[in-house]
Amino acid sequence: MGRIAYVNGRYVPHAEAAVHIEDRGYQFADGVYEVLAVYKGKLIDEPGHIERLDRSLRELRIDWPVTPRVLAVLMRETIRRNRLTDGTIYLQVTRGVASRSHPFPDDAAPALVMTVKAKDLNTLKGGIPTKVITVPDQRWARPDIKSVALLPNCLAQQQAKEAGCYEAWQVDRDGYVTEGTMSNAWIVSAKGELMTRSADGNTILNGITRLAVLDVAKAAKVKLVQRPFTVAEVKKAREAFLTSTTSFVKPVVEVDGRKVGNGEPGPITRQLGKLIAERLEAQVA
Ligand code: PDD
Repeated sequence: MGRIAYVNGRYVPHAEAAVHIEDRGYQFADGVYEVLAVYKGKLIDEPGHIERLDRSLRELRIDWPVTPRVLAVLMRETIRRNRLTDGTIYLQVTRGVASRSHPFPDDAAPALVMTVKAKDLNTLKGGIPTKVITVPDQRWARPDIKSVALLPNCLAQQQAKEAGCYEAWQVDRDGYVTEGTMSNAWIVSAKGELMTRSADGNTILNGITRLAVLDVAKAAKVKLVQRPFTVAEVKKAREAFLTSTTSFVKPVVEVDGRKVGNGEPGPITRQLGKLIAERLEAQVA
């Protein structure tokens, strides 16, 4: 963890950073968040993350705690005060502090907190192969909102950890994979098509990395379809991978204890991983 946290207008030592016990984020998970990568001291894909934050806030009718321009300054100052070069910045906005009562309070001011974490993004962007399990998707009906209500994600993630896996791919009632607990899910089908679930139906978080991979895949003329896929299709897939701000393109070589393809990262996964790593370098050049 970084040494300095931002809490509602103040930079404070991380160990002393606190919010009130009646913050609605604490009581009702009434808040949203974003995680941005910081590489070589620069914010990665900032416009995409800010646009998504704006959407999450609008969907929940939470006001911006500061203007987007001020937020941009505050993020940079938090990075600077922590002397962060490579890692992530976490920002969270809740509806604010009010005596516990379900409807929105009349007079609460939205609360903003930020923390940073140092991470070696160079190893991550190398695409370390990983394993996943599949679990029932037990989340609410709006996973498209980046809400801090992550209990189902935490339960599934714990299950993955106990199975020696990095991620749990959540499966809807019709048997289709929605996404991971903290990343989006992709396969290269038995027919060689790159596949990921469409973000249109509000059943997944529209990952910023997901959007970047769609862009580079289109530019590289990779055969692509956005549609849900079943666990059976995953088991027959040639390749699989997951994407997120902190994982970039991470090859998935085993699902529920069975090898995907030949159990090695596949050619399309490696190609997309390389293109995303190049895109990252281009943003800080
Ligand atoms: N997770 N799906 C879910 C459920 C996520 O929580 C995330 C991100 C993603 C990928 O989105 P992006 O590419 O914008 O990071 C997909 C963040 C990193 C987290 O919760 O830590």
